[in-house]
Amino acid sequence: MWLQRLCPLIQPTRMLPFTIVIPLLLLTILLVGVMKLRRRTTTHQYNLPPGSSGWPIVGESLELFRGNSEGVPEKFIVDRIERYGSHVFRTSLFGEPMAVLCGPAGNKFLFSNEGKKVGLWWPASVRRLMGPSLVSKSGEEAKAQKKMMMMGLFSLEGLVKCIPIMDEVTRHHLATHWQGQGEMKALPIIKHYTFEMACRLFMNITEPQLVSRLFTLFNVFIKGVISMDINLPGTRFYRAMRAADAIRKELRALVKQRRTAPDQLDILSYLQVNADDNRKFMPENEVVNNMLNLLFAGHDTSSSTLTLIMKYLAELPGVHEKVLKEQREIAASKAGGELLNWDDLQRMRYTWNVVSEVLRMTSPVNGSFREALVDIDLEGYTIPKGWKLLWSAAFTHKDDSLHQKAMEFDESRFEGSGPPPFSYVPFGGGPRMCLGKEFARMEILVFLHNLVNHFDWELLIPNEKISYDPMPTPVQGLPIRLRPRVRAV
Ligand code: HEM
Repeated sequence: MWLQRLCPLIQPTRMLPFTIVIPLLLLTILLVGVMKLRRRTTTHQYNLPPGSSGWPIVGESLELFRGNSEGVPEKFIVDRIERYGSHVFRTSLFGEPMAVLCGPAGNKFLFSNEGKKVGLWWPASVRRLMGPSLVSKSGEEAKAQKKMMMMGLFSLEGLVKCIPIMDEVTRHHLATHWQGQGEMKALPIIKHYTFEMACRLFMNITEPQLVSRLFTLFNVFIKGVISMDINLPGTRFYRAMRAADAIRKELRALVKQRRTAPDQLDILSYLQVNADDNRKFMPENEVVNNMLNLLFAGHDTSSSTLTLIMKYLAELPGVHEKVLKEQREIAASKAGGELLNWDDLQRMRYTWNVVSEVLRMTSPVNGSFREALVDIDLEGYTIPKGWKLLWSAAFTHKDDSLHQKAMEFDESRFEGSGPPPFSYVPFGGGPRMCLGKEFARMEILVFLHNLVNHFDWELLIPNEKISYDPMPTPVQGLPIRLRPRVRAV
């Protein structure tokens, strides 16, 4: 139990017999020892950043996860910056030697050297679960796939068309799942909402049974994405692999269907028809993997953000009041039943500042990984080619020297020109910046517009703890008491 609490990635439901586990463990320790010795002889000529490799295999992963589960993901980094007196330090995570680059200078270095000195890297669990797709590809291939997606649903024209559909889906969702509720947990319902939205807009799936089936599988899948890739019964990864297979089977059936009727405006049809200039089909597996990618990248990020916004709004009545005022004005300017459009969203400036502050205080993506493509000289140290690199939004966002009184909620810091470059990075930066940033902005604003205009809520657990697994979420799922607004617009 203690091991499971410490490290949410190791969660066997059925323990393996000791006769297998102990020899396996000894063999692994031996192998790691040999690998470490080899690594030391090949890296001794470098002036490595200060740091420690921690324990065999797990390195310092457990300390990173401990900070996450305690709701302070930046602690791992803050402790080491204090210990080593450097904004670049070395560690070992996911079985890899790794350099952590902290703060705006590190972010700038990584974001502006994509494809030159650094390339994308994901832990083996992600690569194995995702298969060949945008997230797992690098270089020219990734660029081409991203460009293709940005010409479809994620183009300005595509996004503008999405807004009324988003508004319709949201109204329907609130009427079905929120209307008439007294006490409820917000997180699971919001997760269902963002999943429903993704199914509708990415793949034009509207059939509720299929959405529910995929949703159940997807929740198993996502728990294994950032985990040790141990494909043995009982592990998170094992369950995730099986769930991914089942999702792929469902999606393959959809792809086949769509090939005979590729006229929908969703991204599934777009990827298939526009795979190359000759309008040939993209290979079925890649279409399916890209769909899985988009669901992975876009589902928990948005649902975590929306849940936390609800938490902050309940805790900060002054901020809630101002959001409501802005949203009421927009609703009052519309004809009865008229759906939201692009211009309406541009008017939601105050609401977006509030969302931006929530993304600063509790970033859904703490940071991500890169790999050194060459030996990198940085701040007097050398990071050897092949080492992995990590940047951290969580640390950058909590630095008092970049964000005055960083631990306090203050949406006004986003007025005017906002925070300095590379100090506010919830969506990353450079060529690998979030593909769904604008989609997420629209989805969040459309949801908030409908929510605050029709409902008020209070928290049933004041100061509910937030834990990162890996996204920040209230540990009890944010139980709330919901009330319809008396003067609903
Ligand atoms: C609040 C919501 C979101 C946040 C905070 C967020 C954050 C991020 C971050 C930090 C990255 C960069 C990772 C890196 O540098 O390696 C990223 C990448 C990505 N995001 Fe998002 N994301 C959000 C929503 C979405 C949505 C809704 C979608 C899809 C509709 C999406 C699709 C993607 C994709 C495809 C990538 C990979 C881009 C690439 O590798 O070139 N994201 N996201």
